Amino acid sequence: MKVAPSLLSADFLRLEKDVEMLNASADLIHLDIMDGTFVPNISFGFPVVEAVAGKAGIPLDAHFMVVNPEAWVGRCAELGVSMMSFHLEAAGRKTRGILREIRSKGMKAGLAINPDIKVERLYPFIGEADFFLIMSVFAGFGGQKFIYESLDRVQKLKEKLNEAGSEALIEVDGGVAESNAAALQEAGADILVAGSAVFKSPSPSKVIAALRNPR
Ligand code: DX5
Ligand code: ZN
Repeated sequence: MKVAPSLLSADFLRLEKDVEMLNASADLIHLDIMDGTFVPNISFGFPVVEAVAGKAGIPLDAHFMVVNPEAWVGRCAELGVSMMSFHLEAAGRKTRGILREIRSKGMKAGLAINPDIKVERLYPFIGEADFFLIMSVFAGFGGQKFIYESLDRVQKLKEKLNEAGSEALIEVDGGVAESNAAALQEAGADILVAGSAVFKSPSPSKVIAALRNPR
C-alpha cells in the first residue's frame, strides 16, 4: 500500500523539517483543506499548500472538505497538486463535472464520502474517478478513533471495482494506525492516510514503513 501522511498533525512551526522527512519516507503528502462550513473546523489554505509544494519531492494529495470544491481546481493544478479529492456530499449534482474538470487539468480525481454515506452512492462514478476516499472517521479533525465498519465499506467497494474491471484506487482516511493497517490491506485499501499515528510517534518514518507493509 501507499502511505499518505496528513500534514494536519504535523508541527506547523517545523513544517519544512516534516516535509523533508516525508520526502524521504512517504509515498504522498496528504493536505487537508477545510472551510469551516462543510466541516466544523478550519485547517489551512493555499499559502501553506504553496509553501509545501515548493519543498515536496513526492506527489501532493489534496483532500478538500469544503462546500464549493470546483472553485479550487485551477489553483491546485497551478501549484502542481497530483491528486485532488472532494466530497460527494458537498458537490451533489456537480460531482461528475468536477471530476472531469480535475482530470482535464491533468490531476487524478478523487471522490470522498463520510462514514454515514452509503458506499453504493460512489458506484455511478466508477470510471470517472481515479480514486475513492473512504473516510473512516467523520471529516473535520485529526486524532479520532477508527470506525471499524469502514472495513466492510472498503471491501464492498473493492469488490464492485473488481467486478467493473476498474483500476480506481481506494484511499482510507481517519484513525488509521498500525493496529488496523493489515485489516485495511486485506479489505482492499490501496492508500492509507495517517495523521496522528505518524506525527505523534517518536519515529514517524518507522510508522510509515509499518503502515506500508503491515503484518
Ligand atoms: C480528517 C482528515 C484526516 C486527518 C487524519 O478530517 O481528513 O486526513 O488528518 O488524521 P488521523 O490519522 O489522526 O485520524
Ligand atoms: Zn484527509
